[in-house]
Amino acid sequence: MPQPSFPATRMRRGRSAPWIRALLAEHRLHPSDLIWPLFIAEGKDGEEPIATLPGVSRWTVDRLASQAREARDLGIPCLALFPNTPRDLRTDDGREALNPDNLMCRAIRAIKDAVPEVGILTDVALDPYTSHGHDGLTDARGYVLNDETTEQLVGQALVQAAAGADIVAPSDMMDGRVGAIRSALEAAGHRNVAIMAYAAKYASAFYGPFRDAVGSRGLLKGDKRGYQMDPANGAEALREVALDLAEGADMVMVKPGLAYLDVVARVKDRFGVPTFAYAVSGEYAMIEAAAAAGAGERDALILETLMAFKRAGATGVLTYHARDAARLLHG
Ligand code: PBG
Repeated sequence: MPQPSFPATRMRRGRSAPWIRALLAEHRLHPSDLIWPLFIAEGKDGEEPIATLPGVSRWTVDRLASQAREARDLGIPCLALFPNTPRDLRTDDGREALNPDNLMCRAIRAIKDAVPEVGILTDVALDPYTSHGHDGLTDARGYVLNDETTEQLVGQALVQAAAGADIVAPSDMMDGRVGAIRSALEAAGHRNVAIMAYAAKYASAFYGPFRDAVGSRGLLKGDKRGYQMDPANGAEALREVALDLAEGADMVMVKPGLAYLDVVARVKDRFGVPTFAYAVSGEYAMIEAAAAAGAGERDALILETLMAFKRAGATGVLTYHARDAARLLHG
């Protein structure tokens, strides 16, 4: 539509007062857009701060219910859980991932017992359980094996679902794992357990603080470029998403977030499916560092970056700022 020129059109009319800015806002942030990742540690009545993620802690299982209640009271619909497996339980094959009484499964049950109305998303990947820090099983040369890993991931997803997980989220980037997990969930009667595929997950420098949080940074041999995507690639992300949807993913995710908003927008435009973005640990740390250095106002940085995800088309955002953002949104 041709737009009349100045002065018939004055764009600033729409910005002239708070009420009209509110009326014309194209996107809105709401606590229900947020998924809050929580780290879990062994022990009792414990909170362990994570140096590279200031303001984020690992919680012992007995302290998780109060976090979940807080999420519920703030209107955050879903938690994402990540365990810091004790070092002596990490093995080459990551078999602790299949233990129905592992830290993750105990955490799921504790939250479901206390606050069943909050959704629980669990990460499906072996990195918190392997002695080499990779997301899968490796051969003698350290190559991450695809099909053997997928079998292990199926077992992991099943113990998580049996413990009460509502969404299983494979973050490992093996080919074919979404279909394998879907069939196994159906066969086991977990019809309503959903799959959020980490469909376009990049080999990123922004995961450092997360690897500290789950204790895999020091262990990781090499890098993850043999399975995670090359940051140079955008069209490839669309192929990844198409495959995961064809295999039965209910929702897809792009990760990291801010540096990949073009991918979020393309995925949402092309497929029109629930599309999530993960504002990863390094992104959180950048905002905290900028605010601590006086380079920007923390609350405003948090809300502006989260709004950017909505503008790009994201259905929701996994963010370590979820609790703070929800509090800000409640005013
Ligand atoms: C592991 C996994 C990672 C993240 C989520 N799941 C790290 C990795 O792939 O090395 C990163 C999350 C973050 O940085 O906040 N499969």
